[in-house]
Amino acid sequence: QYTSLHPNFRTISPNHVTPPPPPTTITSSTTQSLSQVSVKPNIQYRAYSPQHFYQNRILDQYASQSINPITLRQLIVFGRNLTEERIVKSGNYVRTELPIRLAHRIRDFQNLPFIVGTNPHLSMVYDLYWTAFEKLRKIPPVRTMEENNEWCETIKGLLKDHLVVIPQLAMGIIECSEHLSVEQLDRFMNTMLRSRISRRVLAEQQIALTENWHDPGYAYDQSDNDGLIGVISTNCNAKEIMEKCAKMTRNFFKTYYGVEPPQVLTDGQVDTTFAYIPDHIEYIIYELLKNSIKSVIEKHAPSILSTSQSPSKQMLESSQLFPPITVTICSGPTDIYFRVSDQGGGIPDKLYPYIWSFAHKSNDKKNLNKFTNFSKVPQMAAKVEEYEQHIIPPDLSLGIGLPMSKVYAEYWGGGLNIFSLDGYGVDAYVKITKLGNKTENLV
Ligand code: COI
Repeated sequence: QYTSLHPNFRTISPNHVTPPPPPTTITSSTTQSLSQVSVKPNIQYRAYSPQHFYQNRILDQYASQSINPITLRQLIVFGRNLTEERIVKSGNYVRTELPIRLAHRIRDFQNLPFIVGTNPHLSMVYDLYWTAFEKLRKIPPVRTMEENNEWCETIKGLLKDHLVVIPQLAMGIIECSEHLSVEQLDRFMNTMLRSRISRRVLAEQQIALTENWHDPGYAYDQSDNDGLIGVISTNCNAKEIMEKCAKMTRNFFKTYYGVEPPQVLTDGQVDTTFAYIPDHIEYIIYELLKNSIKSVIEKHAPSILSTSQSPSKQMLESSQLFPPITVTICSGPTDIYFRVSDQGGGIPDKLYPYIWSFAHKSNDKKNLNKFTNFSKVPQMAAKVEEYEQHIIPPDLSLGIGLPMSKVYAEYWGGGLNIFSLDGYGVDAYVKITKLGNKTENLV
């Protein structure tokens, strides 16, 4: 059991608290490079401030309410035949739902032990959540499209401010791995990430529906929208997803390591289409291909990833050296499967039990040293396209790609499994539900 010793939740009289430090607000500047975010002094509610003490009563009112989970199918059905009335209605659903979902997670932070709550990375996320909660709970009901447009601008700002959340959480968790069990840290991280996906889906869907509505070429009856309903595509094509992710991951290795990476071949029912949020499946496939390509290169030409040779020389040396990665697509009655098979040597038996952990002590801390100044922590790409903008530097491994991919796969009721043949290679199985009838997986 966590002990409720977090400094932010002390039930002490406001008269006895240490005077709060100067207020600070966390903002990201649009003029900056996307790879860095600045934390500017201006937060409204610091951990020990009297305001914060009273805010907890308000938090109780929200954290005691249950959330209303949705299915992909509900989002699709709702987004068909858009009307202003429907957009305003969904705007209000998102407006009431976001602060409740955030309040539950703020409470999780407060239930962490004192020492964990004082970690600068984690308290930065805690402050971001409070700031967002305060903003969201004060938004008045949305009555018109104009008010909905303003509401969308607010959520767009929050989505951008929160791009730092995952790297910050990941670093905080690794730094705190001595103070909580791996199970506790993983449970905390899984819940945080599922909830974050859920909030971002609601926010992004509202923004996208609103943009659809304002788009002069948009067909309200969905007859000519390329299967797009907000951020959902009812026409995701397995082959196109594979081609896009293969191109991006291969480019990544070409650019950063100057190496001609292994080919990615696709077979099976490649023309399969399904309804899904493309960003979600692309995240998973991108991560799996990145792992596969890296391990194939490491096994078959170990010097390449560590050498500082000029890219053109390496390119010549490595071309055609590698066994390909094969992705097999299968469309069953209720699910779609992607099997990603590589000959990268597999996962050593001693590491295999920890591949799903965010917090295991085998996670490499030395990689993170350059970001110990938490205001320099990079943002995390919201879409795979943004990886190309170097949002997370290629040499920074947070060690969360696989567990994060599992969270994404399970989010709409699917799954991710890895089978390793130690010494030969890995088969990764992604299962995506076809029917869209599973509610968001938030536990
Ligand atoms: C997040 O990205 O963590 C959010 O909570 C975004 C939401 C406030 C719009």
